[in-house]
Amino acid sequence: MIGAVRTPAQQLVTVFGGSGFLGRYVVRALAKRGYRVLVATRRPDLAGHLQPLGVVGQIHAVQANLRYPESVAHAVAKADHVINLVGILQESGRQSFDSLQADGPRLIAEAAHRDARLVHVSAIGADADSASLYARSKAAGEAGLLSARPDATIMRPSILFGPGDSFFTRFAALCRALPVLPLAGADTRFQPVYAGDVAEAIAKVIDGQVPVGRIFELGGPEVRTLRELVQYVLETTGRRRLILPLSWRAARLQGSMMGALDKAMLGLLPDDLVITRDQVTLLERDNVVSPEAVRDGRTFEGLGMVPTGYQGIVPSYLVRFRKTGQFDGKRDALPSATPDVLAPDSAGPGSGFHPGQAAGPAIGQPSSR
Ligand SMILES: NC(=O)c1ccc[n+]([C@@H]2O[C@H](COP(=O)([O-])OP(=O)(O)OC[C@H]3O[C@@H](n4cnc5c(N)ncnc54)[C@H](OP(=O)(O)O)[C@@H]3O)[C@@H](O)[C@H]2O)c1
Repeated sequence: MIGAVRTPAQQLVTVFGGSGFLGRYVVRALAKRGYRVLVATRRPDLAGHLQPLGVVGQIHAVQANLRYPESVAHAVAKADHVINLVGILQESGRQSFDSLQADGPRLIAEAAHRDARLVHVSAIGADADSASLYARSKAAGEAGLLSARPDATIMRPSILFGPGDSFFTRFAALCRALPVLPLAGADTRFQPVYAGDVAEAIAKVIDGQVPVGRIFELGGPEVRTLRELVQYVLETTGRRRLILPLSWRAARLQGSMMGALDKAMLGLLPDDLVITRDQVTLLERDNVVSPEAVRDGRTFEGLGMVPTGYQGIVPSYLVRFRKTGQFDGKRDALPSATPDVLAPDSAGPGSGFHPGQAAGPAIGQPSSR
């Protein structure tokens, strides 16, 4: 039928977890393409920060909780495509790995329209045989999703970075607060991946540019041990701290004690400090793209993308952890523009406003007029 091809503006994408860290990047990538976006979140009243990522009326929020099937069905009822980014690193109360990560993806898949493109974000390390509850629940989520919708696309990222991340920012906060850094899994290898790249990969699937029914593993260009990454944070923030690698035995003990203490304090322990026993178990395995994924082209390269390295981006948002912040002597060495998801290039289609192209002279520079 003539005219059957619909433009992005005629398509609605529901994003579960759109209010989270990766969610902001995904909402921005979709909005830039012109899609209408429905963010499914437990607290729509707290999703106002997403509005500047699109034009007026392009992004809406709806109340949905993966633990309540009716709310899920309601959130996807009119969706042309559905993305699931919901995940937790530790359980708390009814927020369990089983309900959110093992059962949630299938629930969404069964509720979504059968022609909807489905993208689900899992994690490198998802493994039904893992000793970690987190990794097992991620594997169960993938299996449940694929049994309901074999044509769904799964993205398994390594550790995500970008302004607002919980990895580099967390370690920078710890380096500032602690004189000594006890480190579990110091030799475990990671492949930090830029959240903006993962969002682009997801948006490509929604565009219909990616063969469906595949599991992609997404890692950045560099593989580094945890110790090397923490060392990098120290160098970038201009601090000197003793890194104290823990034996696995000590790390497990630390995880068990922290988890118990956090429970006893009703989850009030600062997130930066908490490492659970299950997280220690996760650290026992490298978090890098597998050789099988590389061989089969289930990586950024297979998606026709070149991933962004962390060293060009991370210093721009760790600057606030330097002793003298932006007034540090090494300021000139920092990247000039922070690629924040709320930067003006997120103003949506048609915006003529671009970051780094201000009309006037930079502060401290003479005017050419
Ligand atoms: N961050 C990483 O380094 C990393 C690495 C590998 C994989 N991943 C995966 O990537 C995905 C996104 O991670 P992220 O870092 O963006 O996480 P995040 O910032 O913690 O966001 C999690 C999202 O889940 C939503 N959520 C939590 N419980 C929910 C429930 N019961 N019902 C509906 N929504 C719920 C939250 O929304 P509300 O609280 O607003 O409802 C929030 O938007 C997750 O699946 C995570 O496992 C992350």
